[in-house]
Amino acid sequence: MNPQNIKNRDNNKTDTDDELSDHMQLDNLAFEIDAFIKERHSVRAYLPKRVEKKLIQTVLRTARSAPSGANLQPGKFHVLTGASLLELVNALQEAHKCDRPIVEEYSYFPKPMPAHLKARQRAAGYALYESLNIGRRDIEKRKAQFARNYAFFDAPVGIVVTIERAMGKGCFMDLGNTLMTLLLSAKAHGLSTSGLGALANYADLVHSVLNLPADEMVVCGIAMGYCDESAPENNVKTTRIELEEYTSFRGFD
Ligand SMILES: Cc1cc2nc3c(=O)[nH]c(=O)nc-3n(C[C@H](O)[C@H](O)[C@H](O)COP(=O)(O)O)c2cc1C
Repeated sequence: MNPQNIKNRDNNKTDTDDELSDHMQLDNLAFEIDAFIKERHSVRAYLPKRVEKKLIQTVLRTARSAPSGANLQPGKFHVLTGASLLELVNALQEAHKCDRPIVEEYSYFPKPMPAHLKARQRAAGYALYESLNIGRRDIEKRKAQFARNYAFFDAPVGIVVTIERAMGKGCFMDLGNTLMTLLLSAKAHGLSTSGLGALANYADLVHSVLNLPADEMVVCGIAMGYCDESAPENNVKTTRIELEEYTSFRGFD
């Protein structure tokens, strides 16, 4: 991106994004940043290539630059690789294989899930399974693919994200800001990622393997590493709902 390419914009413009892009060069920094953000996607197969600790530290410092209410900066990141990651993966995979009871420390999804959200969840799942040629009724293969969550999708780096138990819902939102900043910084440095909410299903196990302090709650995991471009599951592009479905504009006309 070249900051020299930034062009002045008429502040009163009401054009659509498309019309705007006609007006502006494609190399415009703002559009490059937009495109960069939209290009990020979850990666579920990685190359067996080591990630330098210094690089991860850089990404985590950038992630921490995310804004948070009263600058509380909630959340912690426990970064695992090598034998430390393997120990957690072995424990998680065993738990999944043995149908260990799920111990969630917080509720991620609404219960029950309303139909319109269930449809979005299904669409994302089907897109992944279709990319892998797994039929909708092929329960065994679906289960095997789900088990890959508990191997951090073979990523060389696994991050366990926790939050102080006393934190309120706003602090979860702030941690989300930090997570997204982490995903984008990782991408900027050539790394790929996937969130791993499935990790929280075995929060008690994660606690005991990592010997986490009792006042930390396991929120999710993050798989991080270099993308295996040849893996079909990494070419899935999820869709998003239309702007009109999630926005309202007032006083513009
Ligand atoms: C906090 C968080 C947790 C997630 N947990 C999982 C997970 O457990 N397993 C999985 O395969 N994907 C997981 N994802 C990835 C989402 O399914 C994915 O972000 C979503 O379908 C949109 O696709 P995209 O990331 O490719 O744009 C998670 C994403 C986030 C942000």
